[in-house]
Amino acid sequence: MVTRNKHFLISLLSFLFILQNHSMIHAQYEPLAELWEVSVSEVPTLLTIEKNLILVDSILTPILDNSSFGGTYISVKANKVFINTINSSMIPIIKASPKIQPYINLLSFKNATNSTFRLNSSFNELTTLAQNLKANNVMIGINPKFNNIVIYLNQKDNETNKNFIDSATKFYPIMNYSTSSTNSTTLRSKIEERQIYERILDGEGLHNIFGEQICSVGPLMKDNFNQFFYLTAGHCFANQPLNPAGFVDFYHLPWYSPPTYDYIGQLEHYSISPYDFGLIHVINPIMLLSAIIKNNDYERYQELFIEDSASVISVGVHLCKSGYTTHVTCGEVTELNAAIVTDFGTKIKLETIVFDAISFEGDSGGPVYSNALHLEPFVTVVGIAINAISSDDLDRTAALPLDVVRRFFDLTLILTS
Ligand SMILES: *[C@@H]1O[C@H](CO)[C@@H](O)[C@H](O)[C@H]1NC(C)=O
Ligand SMILES: *[C@@H]1O[C@H](CO)[C@@H](O)[C@H](O)[C@H]1NC(C)=O
Ligand SMILES: *[C@@H]1O[C@H](CO)[C@@H](O)[C@H](O)[C@H]1NC(C)=O
Ligand SMILES: *[C@@H]1O[C@H](CO)[C@@H](O)[C@H](O)[C@H]1NC(C)=O
Ligand SMILES: *[C@@H]1O[C@H](CO)[C@@H](O)[C@H](O)[C@H]1NC(C)=O
Ligand SMILES: *[C@@H]1O[C@H](CO)[C@@H](O)[C@H](O)[C@H]1NC(C)=O
Ligand SMILES: *[C@@H]1O[C@H](CO)[C@@H](O)[C@H](O)[C@H]1NC(C)=O
Ligand SMILES: *[C@@H]1O[C@H](CO)[C@@H](O)[C@H](O)[C@H]1NC(C)=O
Repeated sequence: MVTRNKHFLISLLSFLFILQNHSMIHAQYEPLAELWEVSVSEVPTLLTIEKNLILVDSILTPILDNSSFGGTYISVKANKVFINTINSSMIPIIKASPKIQPYINLLSFKNATNSTFRLNSSFNELTTLAQNLKANNVMIGINPKFNNIVIYLNQKDNETNKNFIDSATKFYPIMNYSTSSTNSTTLRSKIEERQIYERILDGEGLHNIFGEQICSVGPLMKDNFNQFFYLTAGHCFANQPLNPAGFVDFYHLPWYSPPTYDYIGQLEHYSISPYDFGLIHVINPIMLLSAIIKNNDYERYQELFIEDSASVISVGVHLCKSGYTTHVTCGEVTELNAAIVTDFGTKIKLETIVFDAISFEGDSGGPVYSNALHLEPFVTVVGIAINAISSDDLDRTAALPLDVVRRFFDLTLILTS
């Protein structure tokens, strides 16, 4: 069931208006051009390649047996799907599969040592160890590019995590340390905001009753009783003042704006472990709800329109997020289905998708989306940002897939058109 947003017309008009008014300004940096290190004009070609590789990978994955192969990943720049191969005598069998025949030239078999089966069982054991040994702020995932488990840790937790690190070493995973997080210094150019209508855009901020910025606005959803909810991270309720009903109240905080005290609603449902998400029940009828993602650091498309949703099944594809603190950033998926253990082993966040884009505190809850399936400015929403690792040389954002939320709540994603 597709839900149409009645405010689309207003959004479209303002979009055209902005486009016209800025069309004389020099071209701004574009996140995907930067990610792939190409000119802006080459991005559409690479997006077409990516879409095709996603298709090939989706055909391939079900026919790779878990003992002879060790995962796949795509490379848009190489126009290849790489296949970690343990038993190379299986290669002809795969190549002979009729479904994969048309795409043989896009496949690249790589010798590898760790099978999917082995990586999966190591992943399960390490995740259990991290909880039992009270690890703090560790992220564990299977990384197909390295054909190994990667464990992301923060150096400031070295002492706390000593027992876990000692035990984990037996699996010979790759340990990737970040230095303690620094402050965001990467806010992009400040294109003047044209706040014509009082609209809430996905990726803008939320503030609490004290005016403090807390999280970011995620995708808009609707239940079967026509009640609207903004998705955000579940941990946004932590340590926040409660209203008389016992919930946290959230207000709209546009980018570069002081607190507005424009009330959105209260965070009525929230969970942190094992799935980090919350639902803000929108009860202020005066606010114009828009299913539009804020992107206005960029010249070409200052607003992105949500066309559909999808799940991410390939490592190497790009994802972008929009959030209050670091705005729009993009990266490539490094691990699917990673686990994050926090609070000295007492909390775990499961089924997260990790991509190498920068995010900081305050970005949590912002929409995570892909440009692969549609022409800009139309995008596909895949989830929300819930965690970040950021230091001078290491940036990772972890996303919770929209599918997980819909497993618990019967909600429809509101689309822009
Ligand atoms: C590999 O393992 C997954 C998960 O257990 C299973 O769904 C899939 O069928 C397996 N693939 C093959 C080809 O055995
Ligand atoms: C590799 O695959 C072939 C063909 O299925 C099989 O006969 C052989 O036993 C496998 N080798 C190993 C080491 O598993
Ligand atoms: C991969 O392994 C196979 C079988 O062991 C071997 O014949 C082949 O040369 C190897 N390829 C590379 C690139 O190392
Ligand atoms: C990985 O482990 C999970 C949990 O034990 C299991 O459900 C799944 O089937 C496993 N997948 C593979 C490919 O072995
Ligand atoms: C933390 O441990 C890593 C790996 O042993 C080491 O490289 C790093 O210097 C340590 N950092 C601190 C602050 O102790
Ligand atoms: C993966 O392969 C490397 C190299 O052979 C090995 O050192 C490591 O222990 C393996 N990792 C897992 C989780 O099995
Ligand atoms: C971040 O910046 C704020 C204000 O500039 C400062 O008070 C705070 O100590 C900084 N935090 C870190 C971790 O550098
Ligand atoms: C670990 O982090 C470095 C950046 O510090 C990055 O270049 C490297 O690819 C990472 N390795 C893995 C396995 O994630």
